Amino acid sequence: MRPARLNGGVNLDPDPRGCAALRSDLDAAGYRAAAVRDLWGAMVDTAVGHGLTEPAHRALAGRTDALATLAALLFLGSPTSRARVADALPSLGEQGLVDLGLAHVEGDLVVPDALVRPQDISDAAGEGHWWIASDLDEAAVGGPLPTGHVLGVGGASLTLAGLQLTAPVGRVLDIGTGCGIQALRARRSADTVVATDVSERALGFTRLNALLNDVDGIETRAGSLFEPVAGEQFERVVSNPPFVITPRSEGVPAYEYRDGGMAGDDLVAAFVRRVGAVLAPGGVAQLLGNWEYHDGDDGLDRVRAWVAQSPVPLDAWVVEREQLDPLAYAELWVRDGGTAPGSPAYAPLVQAWLDDFAERGVTAVGFGYITLHRAHVIPTLARYERITGTIAGALGPHLGDALGAWQRMSSMTDAELDAAVLRVAPDVTEARHHVPGAPDPQVIELRQGAGFGRALEVDPALAALVGASDGDLPVGVLVAAIADLLEVDAGALRADLLPRVRELLFTGFLRFED
Ligand SMILES: C[S@@+](CC[C@H](N)C(=O)[O-])C[C@H]1O[C@@H](n2cnc3c(N)ncnc32)[C@H](O)[C@@H]1O
Repeated sequence: MRPARLNGGVNLDPDPRGCAALRSDLDAAGYRAAAVRDLWGAMVDTAVGHGLTEPAHRALAGRTDALATLAALLFLGSPTSRARVADALPSLGEQGLVDLGLAHVEGDLVVPDALVRPQDISDAAGEGHWWIASDLDEAAVGGPLPTGHVLGVGGASLTLAGLQLTAPVGRVLDIGTGCGIQALRARRSADTVVATDVSERALGFTRLNALLNDVDGIETRAGSLFEPVAGEQFERVVSNPPFVITPRSEGVPAYEYRDGGMAGDDLVAAFVRRVGAVLAPGGVAQLLGNWEYHDGDDGLDRVRAWVAQSPVPLDAWVVEREQLDPLAYAELWVRDGGTAPGSPAYAPLVQAWLDDFAERGVTAVGFGYITLHRAHVIPTLARYERITGTIAGALGPHLGDALGAWQRMSSMTDAELDAAVLRVAPDVTEARHHVPGAPDPQVIELRQGAGFGRALEVDPALAALVGASDGDLPVGVLVAAIADLLEVDAGALRADLLPRVRELLFTGFLRFED
């Protein structure tokens, strides 16, 4: 039997009626992300995102309506008068909020013990919104976070939520669920979700958030990594794991929300090596991670080695989005823990990271997205790449299309590809750069507006093939016509173009017409 409360925080067994009452109050007040943004303005919203709450307090001064009360109490985590809370939460009431473990009462004030923030969602299932409860953030706590902190929805959470595949699926596993954001997102396309965490408090928040948003089918289980699901298999696994590399030296806090307690990047390595065992054949795992570069060895090769150590065959698509040197990495994570530059603890903490990296020969740290597919017999996809440009919108549908195209192509002969009818994707544009006065272009570039926003230099033959791919004639016929036009050997042109057509189909410049 679970204790009802731990550390005076979230109720680990939240009352469904209390959650429904809170939902009804938040809904009635119009407590949505856009409404809160409008309430204090775009610049103040950005300030709040940076942990600066004073501008928001000033914007709310003098307002007593329910939306302003909820923004102060639940968005900023500010103590608020009992009378205002009673007005803003007519169904739940102050006692209901206390019973859910989201606040306590001190004199005339209701003092929040957690945040509940609105979160917009937009995906293949449509537009929507959630309210997500999590621990008080740094600004509300007023200093460094406690190590058992349960994170709210951050940049990495939104990245993985956007990366999640959107095709309908049976069972999904979310490892390290935290406040449950990935589990909620997965449930939009999955029949059921198992959400795990080492933190009982995180699981309490996940249960509360599922009830608050009236989402069923999410089962919570306590335990480390794959332990709570030993012997089970899932069609999809998602994880924003605690991948942050942390020195194991005295005085360096080990935050549960970002640090799995292992050395270096061992937690991500363990995840990659072992996830195949819980993937059903054909299943896909999606995770974020860090990987180290050692004395000039390529970090992506390190991930490649982890994939090769999986006991089940895994196809892999790994995208490195960012690479930081030891100093930039150390400063990022010291600041993330609430220790500001200039404070006495800052320099010793940064030095602890630098010493750890120097001792272990770490010269840089990569961050990116890992997509693994349990292959039937032998892996056919081993794609390790760096894509650092800005990405517009959620990548999930794009990843799904790429994996779908790759699956289709992996059993497709060149003769079958000849017979396929293709269409250029609607977000692709072509730019031709000419030396002034020259009739022929010096450079032809294809550019994607969606997906990873890739840009690609192509030769006239491939540009012609892409330009003629309008869903009418098959590839083989187009290649023969282009060979005629360019007066080159058709067989040689076909041998040159088909592998590149496959690449354009994977990367989403071209699509199969049927
Ligand atoms: C970066 S947070 C991710 C939270 C949430 N899924 C998200 O996307 O925002 C990592 C989570 O992993 C949990 N965790 C830490 N060590 C773990 C382990 N060994 N096994 C499973 N979960 C772990 C932490 O408690 C935390 O909730």
